[in-house]
Amino acid sequence: PNYQATASAPVNIAVIKYWGKRDTKLILPTNSSLSVTLDQDHLRSTTTSRADPKFTQDRLWLNGKVDEIKPDSRLETCITEMKRLRKKTVEDKDPKAPKLSTYHVHIASYNNFPTAAGLASSASGFAALVASLSHLYELPVDASTLSLISRQGSGSACRSLFGGFVAWQMGTKSDGSDSLAIQVAPESHWPEMHALICVVSDDKKGTSSTSGMQRTVETSPLLQHRIKNVVPERMEKMTRAIKDKDFDSFAKITMADSNQFHAVALDTEPPIFYMNDVSRAIIALIVEYNRLSRENGGRYKAAYTYDAGPNAVVYAPEANMKEIASLIIAYFPQKAGDFKDVLGLFGAEGA
Ligand code: DP6
Repeated sequence: PNYQATASAPVNIAVIKYWGKRDTKLILPTNSSLSVTLDQDHLRSTTTSRADPKFTQDRLWLNGKVDEIKPDSRLETCITEMKRLRKKTVEDKDPKAPKLSTYHVHIASYNNFPTAAGLASSASGFAALVASLSHLYELPVDASTLSLISRQGSGSACRSLFGGFVAWQMGTKSDGSDSLAIQVAPESHWPEMHALICVVSDDKKGTSSTSGMQRTVETSPLLQHRIKNVVPERMEKMTRAIKDKDFDSFAKITMADSNQFHAVALDTEPPIFYMNDVSRAIIALIVEYNRLSRENGGRYKAAYTYDAGPNAVVYAPEANMKEIASLIIAYFPQKAGDFKDVLGLFGAEGA
């Protein structure tokens, strides 16, 4: 028999940011987070896994190149946990089930977006890895259970196992069994919501999320305030905003949380800067765009957010997207060369 399965998973961009771990091995966060999954054909990772008794070791290829699976690495943890889940939920229950958990696996993973785009690939990568092994092993488990494992590959990867609007509940247990992703609402609940990615720079980022957030945990007093007094209420308000399709609230919280994440990075010792002048100019543009609309009795029209790099993600109702994209391009004629790409996401036509 041929034991092989393929799965793909998209990138997600948080509107309430995960930044800080209380357990670096299990990847347990210091606060809950919430994201939108960018479900378009580009910006996905696709992974094929195969199990064979003839394989002599687990092996991985990333975009066609061999990637070493180091002992005790996040990668090894995910593969080991998936095999354990296969044994527990399938083989221990059915003695006739093939003992796939004892076979080595070969895994090939591709990103259909250039890693040069400066967009995080670990979230979609680990989600696709876990999804493909779950198909291969025919696991009778739900996506939240799988998120417990993809979380151990990269925290944000737990959220890419769902489409639409997704919360990562931080949990309280020390074994991590309640730190998982749930879907707040499917994409179909709010199909007008679109995202525009402005690739400001494709430079490799200076400080990785993993090391940056640990330094923040160790040195930032502002992070402690954020964890205790800010995020819990924002999670509730954001969940409500999504359920009510209340874009004004969604936009306010999204921009405030991006700002606070970057403030917390700046509050780190030594300070971490992820945004550059172009990032800040895009913020000014979106702020002005919203101000003009609101001054004339209108509503918020767009929300920016930035991860651990200078690239802007702009969430907005689809109806505003063409205007936003042309504003951004018109506003930065001298910077035109700085925009590697402006991708319209959500829906095939883009912006
Ligand atoms: C700023 O999930 O990449 O994008 O768990 O160490 O792999 P590790 O970190 P990672 O951090 C993502 C940070 C962020 C915010 C977010 O996605 O919530």
